[in-house]
Amino acid sequence: MNILITGTNRGIGFSLTRQLSEKGHTLWAVCRQPSEQLQSLASNANVNIISGVDVTADNAATLIHEALGTTQLDVLIQNAGILTRESIENAAPEAITQQFKVNALAPLTLTIALKKHLTKGSKVALITSRMGSMTDNGSGNYYGYRMSKAALNAAGVSLARDLHGEGIAVALLHPGFVQTDMVNHAGDISADTAAERLIQRIEELNIDNTGTFWHSNGEVLPF
Ligand SMILES: NC(=O)c1ccc[n+]([C@@H]2O[C@H](COP(=O)([O-])OP(=O)(O)OC[C@H]3O[C@@H](n4cnc5c(N)ncnc54)[C@H](OP(=O)(O)O)[C@@H]3O)[C@@H](O)[C@H]2O)c1
Repeated sequence: MNILITGTNRGIGFSLTRQLSEKGHTLWAVCRQPSEQLQSLASNANVNIISGVDVTADNAATLIHEALGTTQLDVLIQNAGILTRESIENAAPEAITQQFKVNALAPLTLTIALKKHLTKGSKVALITSRMGSMTDNGSGNYYGYRMSKAALNAAGVSLARDLHGEGIAVALLHPGFVQTDMVNHAGDISADTAAERLIQRIEELNIDNTGTFWHSNGEVLPF
């Protein structure tokens, strides 16, 4: 299978890239700057790095198109994301806007721009967070992150409806609380475990369950 993933130089995106390449798939690993670990993976013939791509930049889709050529994608994983921590005392609009751009707008615009590389049976996995759930918000704070992931969830459900007729399935996937830079490695599962679970969810995704918001452990989450 041909699989494209954003945010692959570290964290969950790197683990997804490594595990999926070990399964024999052809990977298109999108990043701003490749890390040493990603570069060493790319010595395998089936890992192609597409570097210099800021997902919020106007040229992001063009750079990816140029690298893909006529390649059709079986799976598109929109994983790149950022987290800043706004409180009611300090909810800087700039930080909130930037999270909107990276976490919500970029996955939507890139999915639409890359649609020509998707076909019947292709799958789109949007890596979201349960922090975007209204029902699950028991602790407040994190204004920009919660708002941007809620917006991503809204976009994901619309994409699921709009791509249904073309046989393209869309999942909204919460990885869990994962030991990556994003949370200063304070999570309760490793990036490798999260990636393993996310891959299981993507394998189970189909046109009948499109639009579902899942925890990587298989639990269906409320919006
Ligand atoms: N860790 C958790 O507990 C947790 C929980 C729920 C959801 N998630 C979600 O899981 C996804 C992966 O997070 P992670 O934990 O692996 O975080 P991470 O270790 O901080 O990695 C984030 C990745 O996103 C990339 N990225 C950020 N801004 C970008 C931009 N403008 N253009 C291109 N790439 C950009 C980073 O690349 P650079 O190195 O270039 O910055 C990096 O590869 C995110 O969507 C996150 O919201 C994580």
